[in-house]
Amino acid sequence: MTKKNRWRLMVLLFISLFVGACAPAEQAVKKNPEKTVVAANDETVKIGFSMDTLKEERWLKDQALFKEAVEALGAEVEIVAANGDDALQITQAETLIQQGIDLLVIVPHNAEATAAIVHKAHSAGIKVIAYDRLIKNASIDLYVSFDNERVGELQAEAILELVPKGNYVYIGGATTDNNVHLIKKGVFNVLQPAIDQGDIKVVYDQWTEDWSPEKAFLNMTEALAANNNQIDAVIAANDATAGGVIQALAAQGLAGKIPVAGQDAELAAVQRIVGGTQTMTVYKPIQILTEQVASLAVRMAKGDTITTARAVNNGKVDVPSILLAPIPVTIDNLQDTVIKDGFHTQSDVYGQAAK
Ligand code: BGC
Repeated sequence: MTKKNRWRLMVLLFISLFVGACAPAEQAVKKNPEKTVVAANDETVKIGFSMDTLKEERWLKDQALFKEAVEALGAEVEIVAANGDDALQITQAETLIQQGIDLLVIVPHNAEATAAIVHKAHSAGIKVIAYDRLIKNASIDLYVSFDNERVGELQAEAILELVPKGNYVYIGGATTDNNVHLIKKGVFNVLQPAIDQGDIKVVYDQWTEDWSPEKAFLNMTEALAANNNQIDAVIAANDATAGGVIQALAAQGLAGKIPVAGQDAELAAVQRIVGGTQTMTVYKPIQILTEQVASLAVRMAKGDTITTARAVNNGKVDVPSILLAPIPVTIDNLQDTVIKDGFHTQSDVYGQAAK
């Protein structure tokens, strides 16, 4: 090899080593802008699902059904839950973003605090869907939930029909959750005319920190004591809080004597409906929600733009939104709703209630 050729070879070797060393860094930098290309090339889409909690029965259903729905579409999902801890939810979401997810779905514990996650996801080129609960003051890409205002209306309609006059108690949910304000609005849309006419009086109205049944029990105990047990109806924001309310009523020998409304069609609540201590619940077919979100998430991760008929303002933007229809459930339509859909089995509902 001539001296000149040896020199050329060394230069070539140096260039190839240099390019090789740079390539991974360049890929990493370009990863986010190229996400849609990655997905379009048929690489597996990876969805991150950041959940507030798995404490209540419904969220376990959301978790299992969402995984099933995403996987049925040939995509992958990484699921984390934050135990109602805002800081932990942010850290967990950051980890998902670092792991290279293509899209982030969030059930926010705190409607305001989770805005920080949205900014981080967007800076990494990742779109965000708010699942069941709205995220406030952030440019989220989509919001899919049930019509929460309608949930409240259905609760109040059912109870008002049974108790057109008397003393009402309202037990709300956690104020950190945007849904509670919508549900309460729905309840009072229906109750207000009867309040204005003097037919009903709301003698106690309290939020429930973190949707805790124990707190709901204490609030209901307070409501009973403050009114010498002269309560005619109770509307609770969900079945967990309705459970606490019914325990407080039971302690006064009043369970089953005062109509109580809840939400979620949890098994325990449906059993209480059969047993006569809870009047109604609001059933939200979770599978429809999980399937819709899974399919939209995968499409968005592949770069599709989603247009919706509705939009909900979250304080910053009009968020494209899908609001599914909730269904009121009493003893009369239990069979044709939750049992028919396989949300709960006949033997789970009646077997355990009969004990
Ligand atoms: C959900 C309810 C649930 C509640 C407590 C709300 O945001 O819509 O279904 O019962 O949170 O977890």
